[in-house]
Amino acid sequence: MSLTRNTKNVPYYILGAGAFARLGDFIDERRHGGGAALFCVDHYFQDKEALRDLPAKDGDIVVFVDTSKEPAVEYVDALSDGVKARLQGRPPCCVVGMGGGATLDVAKAVANLLSNPGKAEEYQGWELVKNPAPYKIGVPTLSGTGAECSRTCVLTNEKRKLKLGMNSDYTVYDQLVLDPSLTVSVPRDQFFFTGMDTYMHCFESLRGAYRNVIVDRLSLCAMDMCRDIFLGQEDMMSEANRENMMVASYLGGMAAGNTGLVHPLSAGLSIVLHLPHGRANCYALSVLGDFYPEEHAAFTQMLAKNRISLPKGICANLSEEQYDALHQGTIVHEKPLSNALGPDFKNILGKERLTSMFKAM
Ligand SMILES: [Fe+2]
Repeated sequence: MSLTRNTKNVPYYILGAGAFARLGDFIDERRHGGGAALFCVDHYFQDKEALRDLPAKDGDIVVFVDTSKEPAVEYVDALSDGVKARLQGRPPCCVVGMGGGATLDVAKAVANLLSNPGKAEEYQGWELVKNPAPYKIGVPTLSGTGAECSRTCVLTNEKRKLKLGMNSDYTVYDQLVLDPSLTVSVPRDQFFFTGMDTYMHCFESLRGAYRNVIVDRLSLCAMDMCRDIFLGQEDMMSEANRENMMVASYLGGMAAGNTGLVHPLSAGLSIVLHLPHGRANCYALSVLGDFYPEEHAAFTQMLAKNRISLPKGICANLSEEQYDALHQGTIVHEKPLSNALGPDFKNILGKERLTSMFKAM
């Protein structure tokens, strides 16, 4: 096992039903500087009851994050410009991200742009963020992406045909509020597709070349939890399983930096067809049985057991340009592809082979 990177994790979390009621205390602890609290909330909550319990005070800023599409660099730029104008040069006392992975990631990206000049795309990559972001509190309302604990915030960049985050220790949340009662109203297919993201991060990491003994152990544990949740006796969305999924997402999210084959294909689908991340991952794994036979078999069982459908034919009749874009949008992700297949990945995944895989989805 090679030397690990000097690794930062989220320093504080609170877990369990009722944790959300503590959010106001955590924000108040940061209010000494006088700056406003900035809330980035999934637009899903705009007219929901949970919003009434949001501990926003006079002068705080609440922005709703549109999660109908994968977050794009231009969207993050526009959002952070608007927030900067409202803050009038005064840094916020903290930034709260409340929502699914997309919202949690947008909050991280906006926070980085509040303390670093320029545009979001300038920070897509590794160790490019120079100044620490304001204090950040993450409140996941959907489990599986690992966005609550990862050191990245994935953004699409159509111009550069890629999906890439601001990989930095400054991107990591400072406090998490993990309250499973916030996931009770998640639609079942969304719960499944997003939960599967954890399962995929973990086996992609375990099957890859870039390994880390701690991440391996966390991945094994999170995969076990996913098998229990999606193949066990209890309903996948029982109270206990919603809490288990929150924990699995948190543990498995630490493997999210070492993805393999699923995520590049999934990124191609999100770039070209604007498919949401979790669903795109599931389509990607559906054609990766040759590469991940055991995991593919278990995934097929999980789909059946939870009566989740993945209708075929999403890439059946695309234009040649779209197949080119799918190929480009996949192959551009060199780090995960070489993690999975080694330096020869471009030959192993030629245009023809990839196109026939997309056509089989
Ligand atoms: Fe993912």
